[in-house]
Amino acid sequence: MINKVVVARAPGRVNLIGEHTDYNEGFTLPLAIERYTTVQLQRLPLDSNASRFHSVALGQSAWWTPDGKSFLSAATTLSSEPSAPATANDSAPPWSKYVAGVIHQFAKLGLSIPPFELSIETDVPLGGGVSSSAALEVAVAMAMQQLLVTHLDGLAIAQLCQRAEHEYAGVPCGLMDQLSSVFGRTNELMLMDCRTNQLEFIPASSELAFIVINSRVKHNLADGEYRQRRQQCEAACRLLNVASLRDIDVSRLEAAQSKLPEVVYRRARHVVSENARTVQAAECLKAGQWEQVGQLMNASHTSMREDYEITCPEIDTLVALAQEIRVDGGVYGARMTGGGFGGCIVILGKATHADAIAEQVVTAYRAATGIQADTFTTRPAAGAWELCSNV
Ligand code: GLA
Repeated sequence: MINKVVVARAPGRVNLIGEHTDYNEGFTLPLAIERYTTVQLQRLPLDSNASRFHSVALGQSAWWTPDGKSFLSAATTLSSEPSAPATANDSAPPWSKYVAGVIHQFAKLGLSIPPFELSIETDVPLGGGVSSSAALEVAVAMAMQQLLVTHLDGLAIAQLCQRAEHEYAGVPCGLMDQLSSVFGRTNELMLMDCRTNQLEFIPASSELAFIVINSRVKHNLADGEYRQRRQQCEAACRLLNVASLRDIDVSRLEAAQSKLPEVVYRRARHVVSENARTVQAAECLKAGQWEQVGQLMNASHTSMREDYEITCPEIDTLVALAQEIRVDGGVYGARMTGGGFGGCIVILGKATHADAIAEQVVTAYRAATGIQADTFTTRPAAGAWELCSNV
């Protein structure tokens, strides 16, 4: 029997600047990273009663049936049958919800899903604020297109994955992560206008390195803080009578300060000022003004710490240690990247100094906190692709 094997690969992302602006119709400036999630997908005989997912990294399997029942078993190989009785979706491993969520979105398009098995490998740090979930969603979506012999354009793929995250994982995320994973380009950052979803690609000089350091403190976007920030931004819009925070600038916000509760005002100030910083950082990047880009990153971190309150002591320590190195030591700027409450920081540094910077920060962080951080340096990477062959 000729069977189809599909391999798809999608990168994580690191956001250089523009945090918590995407769901406010604002601007972000991410890059896809040289860390990928790869899925291999193969059809099962039509009379198989469930599709199987397997995470190589975690040694876990889950089974999915079109009626939406997905369940975890103790089995660690694809070939073994589920040993536990079917239970509610809630007991499925968290990663499997992203997979099931994407498949469910294809089913909602009216496509019938044949049984298949899917195995997942990744070197994207999990739960580290560099979009491991978007990388998984996008890789699965790219593979599903091949399986179902259908074609969605890149924006539609990103939006389908975002809906999967909203509906299945319960995270009301914006679109930055999925767009980055789909549209990333080698050696280019993406200035995203999250109102129109248009991307402007901005070359990154080979003299620059993007150094990522994982605090090893895990955040959980679904734990309510992310949702609460979104709600506070929506409250600000209602009180300011604007469609989104994109529609005002800092001076207009300041003039309307008395209309807003203090916390809501600070949340809005982060978003409005972050939009301005992001657009300016893109201009500076184009002009080769890397010190200015670094200063904008530093200001972004302060705004996340003071106004948006999404950092944590370990992250603040890491960022301070990186910023202390300054331009003389090869650091233009540093900030937390991603949803917040842990995860990674990104340092914009001189490529010639990247290894020394990473080593210095990791050593000092260990001395300060006792935590051994992970680190990698990346250049902007290409977005998702898939490959299909018959065996
Ligand atoms: C998470 C979300 C994104 C974005 C960032 C914060 O990564 O998935 O949509 O909101 O947080 O910038």
